[in-house]
Amino acid sequence: MAKGIEDCIWGEQQLGILISGRGSNMQALVNAADNGDIPSVAVVISNIPNAAGLVWAKANGVPTEVISPADYPDRTAHDEAMAAKLKGYYVTTVCLAGYMRIVGTPLLAAYPNRILNIHPSLLPKFGGPGMVGQRVHQAVLDAGETESGCTVHVVTDEVDGGPIVARQSVPVDTQDDMDSLAQRVLQVEHACYPQAVRLFCSK
Ligand code: GRF
Repeated sequence: MAKGIEDCIWGEQQLGILISGRGSNMQALVNAADNGDIPSVAVVISNIPNAAGLVWAKANGVPTEVISPADYPDRTAHDEAMAAKLKGYYVTTVCLAGYMRIVGTPLLAAYPNRILNIHPSLLPKFGGPGMVGQRVHQAVLDAGETESGCTVHVVTDEVDGGPIVARQSVPVDTQDDMDSLAQRVLQVEHACYPQAVRLFCSK
């Protein structure tokens, strides 16, 4: 009998990574997969045709796909296309890595509790709708926080609100600006995301 996603054991799992831009977290995941630390990466999919991360993925032998919202009548159809493509590559766990779209019902239903995201703050602080990119780091600085960091969480229909898999903190320096803080957080993201995926996939 065919196995469901929940029945997959280590070695049979495959990752799909969704990106929209630079893809440095994608690189960290692909490198970890190449080292055998986490399941292999079956495909990298971008919603942005010229996302920089696609160039790196191709150069490193990872299959890539572009699924542009411009080619679909609405958000639901785009999400359905994403889900179908991921299933076509036999992806069992989806990793959002700088994917700048809200994941809608069709994709959530195709991968229930099997989609992870990395967010550049210590959730539940500084998350939620609109809390993306440099805005997160500016909010941390404005609030006078002495630490920040990153969080890997399961994606649900509540933006940045799903169960937390792992967090890693960094200090906030009094000299920090948005860019220096973003850089320090990004460094720990690259370690935290593969560790969280390993933990999540080895249950
Ligand atoms: C990261 O800061 C991540 O936490 C957030 O988007 C950024 C993506 O960066 N979700 P990259 O594309 O992985 O370099």
